[in-house]
Amino acid sequence: MVRSRPASQMTGTTNHRAADSTPQDHPIVPFRLTLAEPVVEQIIVQREELGLVLSREVEAALRTVPRHLFAPGVPLEQAYANHSIVTKRTERGSPLSSVSAPWVQAMMLGQLQVAPGQRVLEIGGGYNAALLRELVGPEGSVSTLDIDPEIADRALSCLTTAGYRDVRVLCADGEFGAAEYGPFDRIIVTVGTWGIPPAWVEQLAEGGRLVVPLWIKGLCQSWALERHGRCLVGRDRIGCGFVPMQGVGKYRSQSIPLHGGQASLWVGDQQADATALGEALSTPRVEAWSGVTVRKGEIELFGGLGLWLARLPEFCLLSAKQDAVDRGLVSPASPMASPALLDRDSSLAYRAKLRPLDAGKTIRELGAYAHGPHAAEVAERFVDQIRIWDRDHRHGPGPRLTVHPAGTPDGDLPAGLVIDRRHTRIVVSWPDHAE
Ligand SMILES: C[S@@+](CC[C@H](N)C(=O)[O-])C[C@H]1O[C@@H](n2cnc3c(N)ncnc32)[C@H](O)[C@@H]1O
Repeated sequence: MVRSRPASQMTGTTNHRAADSTPQDHPIVPFRLTLAEPVVEQIIVQREELGLVLSREVEAALRTVPRHLFAPGVPLEQAYANHSIVTKRTERGSPLSSVSAPWVQAMMLGQLQVAPGQRVLEIGGGYNAALLRELVGPEGSVSTLDIDPEIADRALSCLTTAGYRDVRVLCADGEFGAAEYGPFDRIIVTVGTWGIPPAWVEQLAEGGRLVVPLWIKGLCQSWALERHGRCLVGRDRIGCGFVPMQGVGKYRSQSIPLHGGQASLWVGDQQADATALGEALSTPRVEAWSGVTVRKGEIELFGGLGLWLARLPEFCLLSAKQDAVDRGLVSPASPMASPALLDRDSSLAYRAKLRPLDAGKTIRELGAYAHGPHAAEVAERFVDQIRIWDRDHRHGPGPRLTVHPAGTPDGDLPAGLVIDRRHTRIVVSWPDHAE
């Protein structure tokens, strides 16, 4: 389905913010600024902990755009909290649409490096389009599209209410971009995707930047990629979570339920014996600790470690219900998804919850828990990989992602983990290392 909203729904104003809705004129503004302040401060501190700086432009945009107008009916305190607000769910309760968390938006806008006067396409429409509008200024343009007519309508209405009447709102499948309004200097995707459709590369200007939350081996990270000819190249990435893409690019990954669904394993293309692995979880736990420590706030490291492990064919991800964690069935680093390694179909090791080494819990050690007949072996293999990653990659430039057209011969690809998608070959390559 491609149903583009006609451009006549834009006001055609050349001022990027309507004159009647400047922050100063709005009656709720002093209250809103007070509400926005804590979240902006939190984001600044979070970024400092990661060694990153929140640009003045993004900071100003976060303070300027009235976020509550994009979450009608949501209490003000919630609208200005530092988490996402789910705005639509499936009948079974899974999120279909949300106003992304401010820290995620700030982080992705940082990756996007938008400059005044640029043409930007956003896929997955809403509040972020208003932030983009602030960043591109009067000379730039923002087009935003959403596949869901109800969300696209709401985005248009919220943007209009907030005074952003010249954001172009389209209802269409983002898989195909918006060729009629391109090429774009920047494309930002605010929905989780498994591949890079050719339209995104074609509609990006040479040297332009695409920021996209991409699932690689089950790990979702936001990558900043630049166009070089028919390829995309980038290294900047940050872990995140997003609702999955719908439409032509929809993809459903399979997880294997263990213990009646108390835990589950995402195994990608591997064969795995759910009964044997479920039984393994009932066997005593074996622990292995790596001697590698992390400090509070070093959360970003884990994305790098996850990708490092993901290049192994036996890589998988373990998820667990809170009840399974509370009962002690498993104790993973993150119940949402912890990196794990399979061994001969009957054993597995997963990244354990960090082990505090000091009373204040500021220094914590990385390790693995394992179950099954080969538990000791697989746990040791896991922590060996943590040590190699720590020695060779933790402090280095990190992996590079390149995206090539489908059909690119193997010989023309860089060495690394190759993921074949419908239209593209995605390669994660690590700087040379000695194992
Ligand atoms: C996390 S929300 C977007 C958040 C939004 N950018 C904001 O600032 O709050 C993701 C959106 O992507 C939309 N979406 C899902 N698949 C899509 C597709 N193929 N094309 C366009 N939009 C899509 C969903 O309808 C949903 O509204």
